Amino acid sequence: MSGASAVQFRRFDRAGAREQRDIVALIHRDAYAADNASRDAFAGESAFMQRFDAYTSRSEFDLVIAYRCNEPIGQTWGWALGPTTAWWDDLTSEPEPGFTVEDGHRTFALSELMVRQRWTGHGVAHALHDELLQHRREIRATLLVRPENTMAYRAYTRWGWRPVGQLRPNWPDAPLMDVLIMPLPLSK
Ligand SMILES: CC(C)(COP(=O)(O)OP(=O)(O)OC[C@H]1O[C@@H](n2cnc3c(N)ncnc32)[C@H](O)[C@@H]1OP(=O)(O)O)[C@@H](O)C(=O)NCCC(=O)NCCS
Repeated sequence: MSGASAVQFRRFDRAGAREQRDIVALIHRDAYAADNASRDAFAGESAFMQRFDAYTSRSEFDLVIAYRCNEPIGQTWGWALGPTTAWWDDLTSEPEPGFTVEDGHRTFALSELMVRQRWTGHGVAHALHDELLQHRREIRATLLVRPENTMAYRAYTRWGWRPVGQLRPNWPDAPLMDVLIMPLPLSK
């Protein structure tokens, strides 16, 4: 592969995303195949797909899949946090007063980003990240990353994300994650 320029993207709302369920599972399986984290209960395929099914019940769900010669090679998704979101419930400490107040337009939660192993190292994750976020109208984005996932963590900080705290998502077996924030729109 000559780089991310040879990649095409397709975008799906929640109904379209459900139709891509088998592809989503395939990309996940391949992206995490060599990752120790995939062996824990939280990151395993069954728990991962249960979360995908729950996430696609949200009206704001936004999925982008990357393709190379019509083969799906990576994916990313998220949604805007609504006024009753539980996203921030377990944040260890609020960075500033009002930080966790949501109205459906303030924060886009980038939930997952992954690339199949054969296509890593060519800028596909960065391109997927930009493709998802450049069309969002919220004023900031947030994501959760395992502190030990150093490759992803370093990439996020280079792309403009900064850590603001930690939280353990309200899912069975969820690990403690670092919370990263980035202002939107993306800088050019
Ligand atoms: C993390 C992951 C998404 C990266 O995908 P990718 O397509 O290889 O990423 P990119 O090629 O866009 O590279 C991302 C950054 O890491 C750097 N990088 C890529 N491969 C690297 C390597 N082997 N070692 C060190 N840095 C590397 C790149 O230079 C790039 O930085 P830049 O955009 O500032 O130049 C992919 O490895 C993956 O799916 N991992 C499993 C799932 C996961 O951990 N997702 C993140 C959860 S928060």
